[in-house]
Amino acid sequence: MTLRPVCVAQLNAPAALRGNLFRDTNAGARCAPKPARKPLPCRIVSVAIEMINTQKNIERNLMSDIAIVEKQSVLHVLPLLPYPENALDPVISPRTMSFHYGKHHKGYVDTLNKLVDGTEFTGLALAELIVATAGKPDHAAIFNNAAQAWNHAFYWQSLRPDGGGEPPSALKQKIEKAFGSVDACKSELTKAATTQFGSGWAWLVLDGGGLKVMKSGNAGTPLTKGLKPLLAIDVWEHAYYLDYQNRRIDHVKAVLDRLINWDFAAANLG
Ligand SMILES: [Fe+2]
Repeated sequence: MTLRPVCVAQLNAPAALRGNLFRDTNAGARCAPKPARKPLPCRIVSVAIEMINTQKNIERNLMSDIAIVEKQSVLHVLPLLPYPENALDPVISPRTMSFHYGKHHKGYVDTLNKLVDGTEFTGLALAELIVATAGKPDHAAIFNNAAQAWNHAFYWQSLRPDGGGEPPSALKQKIEKAFGSVDACKSELTKAATTQFGSGWAWLVLDGGGLKVMKSGNAGTPLTKGLKPLLAIDVWEHAYYLDYQNRRIDHVKAVLDRLINWDFAAANLG
């Protein structure tokens, strides 16, 4: 079989992603053979590779995204929280954490496993699934659940007990270059989070060499736009309604002042 890489990023891709991108058989014992797919745009591939590596970092802190449950079958698993469910109280109550993590996040993972079972998508990591199904109406359900599973694993890492404060110096310099000050960056994130109509996310992302803030609706993620996520703030109502009801802005400001994990964002700069 002839391998046909389409860009340098693919040549440097982890084995799992290389297999997805330009191998059509012999995917190994972990998953079933996959049909050949149309090569993806290089920039999206590059970001996907980086975020798979980020995902591996998350996996080291939490646990593996996928687990081999039988010789020819794999399942996505709910990653462990990086802190106890009561660790973010009182900004986020244990009750909210219990529903958000134990019902919503778990629900995305469980639903995804049902959706991909027996399909060509079995065995792909979350970031691979997101890139492979984005913008494809026939696979919208897989995209939504894969993206929500990935977004939530990333979101838990974006928070920490006793967060907020000053970012590490390298990140702070980038923030000041892009926004003028850390407070201005927080204001941009607050604006994105509170103007997102309906469910969605606010993000601090790396766009080329610079930082910017963006928002996404529903399961939207910067991974599909060639942007590298640094931080995520969940603004679905399930993230705050038990504690703040309709006061989304109070929740977002409290998260930014007391929980946001600047160290995680700095680590994601790479
Ligand atoms: Fe959520």
